[in-house]
Amino acid sequence: MARCFVTRELPGPALDRLRERHDVEVWPERLPPPYEKLRRQTADADGLLSLLTDRIDAALIEGSPRLKAIANYAVGYDNIDLAAAAARDIPVGNTPDVLTDATADLTFALLLAAARKLPDALLATQTDDWLTWEPAAHLGHDVYGATLGIIGMGRIGRAVARRAEGFAMTVLHTGAAGGVPLLELLKRSDFVSIHCPLTPDTHHLIDGAALAMMRPSAILINTARGPIVDQAALLDALRDGAIAGAALDVTDPEPPPAGDPVLSAPHLILVPHIGSATRTARERMATLAVENLLAALDGAPMPHPVHTAG
Ligand code: GLV
Ligand code: GLV
Repeated sequence: MARCFVTRELPGPALDRLRERHDVEVWPERLPPPYEKLRRQTADADGLLSLLTDRIDAALIEGSPRLKAIANYAVGYDNIDLAAAAARDIPVGNTPDVLTDATADLTFALLLAAARKLPDALLATQTDDWLTWEPAAHLGHDVYGATLGIIGMGRIGRAVARRAEGFAMTVLHTGAAGGVPLLELLKRSDFVSIHCPLTPDTHHLIDGAALAMMRPSAILINTARGPIVDQAALLDALRDGAIAGAALDVTDPEPPPAGDPVLSAPHLILVPHIGSATRTARERMATLAVENLLAALDGAPMPHPVHTAG
């Protein structure tokens, strides 16, 4: 029996499978374990099931001599120091595929909500501001037939592109096959949607200069990771009308501290990192994370390993 630390309760029955085989401790609180608590809990653990809100850095890995497996409950793994894990031969796993469609659906929900200014329209019905049918009120942007630029043509980017077909959109992307340079994508797109991982190369990929290339009528959507966008530059662009709007599922930092201007920015729709938040997706993510942990603790390869480049 190995000792496993799971950093939050997970939906669905998957954790029971882990409990059948191992000694499992689950962090019971709504908020993540503070870093020092996380270190203490992991110090004598053989397996760790972490969330994207847990920083798994070199110090934590070095301070956990028994650790044999890290299963991240997310497709992204920018919260984990992969080099430090590799140095100790600790496999790292993620939860790809099972959240692709849920995240692509949310991307389209945000795209449509931003294009058609749904938050303002909802507010009108809730604040007695629906006085009559007005020819020039709540005017949004056309989605059908518009041009969508997809940054990062992985599983999620391709799933967004498939949805765009139903809206007769012209799809531009930065992928290897048939892609266009980022600059061209930014200049030509009515909607720009981010689907790349956060890496040193993509940190602040969308900065002030990139935003300045976008059309004044364009809308930016980010369901990937907050730091891919220079948030201060985005807020300036929204305030100055350099772009028409934005819809964010992710921010930098996350969540934003009280009073952060991103919480009250004009022309900005903000939701609390819910890309994968369907019951099915979140339960399947739990299954994949548990399968990763069970395999690695048996000394077998993880079924869903993170592939580290180099
Ligand atoms: C969510 O952001 C994930 O990476 O799964
Ligand atoms: C992540 O799942 C991606 O490849 O887009």
